[in-house]
Amino acid sequence: MLKRPFYLGSLELPSNIFCAPLAGCSDLPFRRMTTAFQPGLVYCEMIKMDALVRHDPHTYRLLDYETSMHPIGAQLCGSKPQLAGKSAKILEDLGFDVIDLNCGCPVDKVTKDGSGSGMLKNLNLVGETLSNIIAAVKIPVTIKIRAGWDEQSIVGPEIVQIAEKAGAKAIAIHGRTREQGYKGHANWDWIRDCKQAAKNILVIGNGDLFDAASVERMFLHTGCDAVLLSRGTFGAPWIIEDVYNHLSGQPPKPRLAVDYRDALLQHLEYVSLYHAPRKAAMDLRRIGCWYLKKGQGTRKLRESLNKSRTLPEIRELILNYPWHETDFSTPEPMTEEAEC
Ligand SMILES: Cc1cc2nc3c(=O)[nH]c(=O)nc-3n(C[C@H](O)[C@H](O)[C@H](O)COP(=O)(O)O)c2cc1C
Repeated sequence: MLKRPFYLGSLELPSNIFCAPLAGCSDLPFRRMTTAFQPGLVYCEMIKMDALVRHDPHTYRLLDYETSMHPIGAQLCGSKPQLAGKSAKILEDLGFDVIDLNCGCPVDKVTKDGSGSGMLKNLNLVGETLSNIIAAVKIPVTIKIRAGWDEQSIVGPEIVQIAEKAGAKAIAIHGRTREQGYKGHANWDWIRDCKQAAKNILVIGNGDLFDAASVERMFLHTGCDAVLLSRGTFGAPWIIEDVYNHLSGQPPKPRLAVDYRDALLQHLEYVSLYHAPRKAAMDLRRIGCWYLKKGQGTRKLRESLNKSRTLPEIRELILNYPWHETDFSTPEPMTEEAEC
């Protein structure tokens, strides 16, 4: 059975199908959408250790969650091991169930101080930072990496051993290098190699999981213990339910145009309750695009959303669109970084 309860130390998670941290995307409204389908674990957006220890209000807001979102993880990003323990303790005190260390973010402004995927070039720092986090808290700690900085420096299996020695309970591997960004395909062989290097640490497969069938293929190809869904949740929060159905041999649930319309309206409602009107309207241009890009015949609505300025205007556009003229029977996978 590929879907099963999952233990991170003594913490029992309801399943081994997780939702990834997604900076700029997995905010509270987004997590309301995905947690309705009961993933085994959901992560907030990554936060910088420096900002957390100086109690930056914007950073705290990224960590907003509701009781119904448990089990929930927070993710730390930073290259100063001396801040790691203090940051982790703050997260534990905020009630998080799991803490993850980001060693995968490819963005220049993150890697330039050696954090995110910059850590892949300094494995001693990975070990030291993880050890400091683990020493500071009682909750389980995980780490998320890319396979390496570039194809010439694949370090996944080495980090597996470092993380295991430090006492991390699981390691998520995104099967791309930093050099790749989000381009090309994830190489699942790199995840399989990590699983083969692991003794006690659990391995979480990540990269190119865009539908239920790809999740099954990931489990079979790599032997991983759990999977982390990322862009596959954009505009399709029900992918978690699709995966559960598929892995338990049930027929797929059809997702009709009306399901996309209703989910988009629900997402709009959550965004408008949480964010200030201007930010909500800007976010909804991008969020609307995630849902609409899955279907044929939605181009006009996408164009109108991209010009709209207010939430009532966006709601009206969605409600008045001729959804019966659209076709969502063969949804397009999200291939690039949420660009519309
Ligand atoms: C918009 C965006 C934001 C992301 N933010 C984070 C983040 O905060 N922390 C992290 O570890 N990975 C982050 N990632 C990487 C994803 O979690 C994941 O590893 C990657 O998208 C590969 O999975 P996929 O091919 O299934 O999307 C982000 C990816 C995207 C596209």
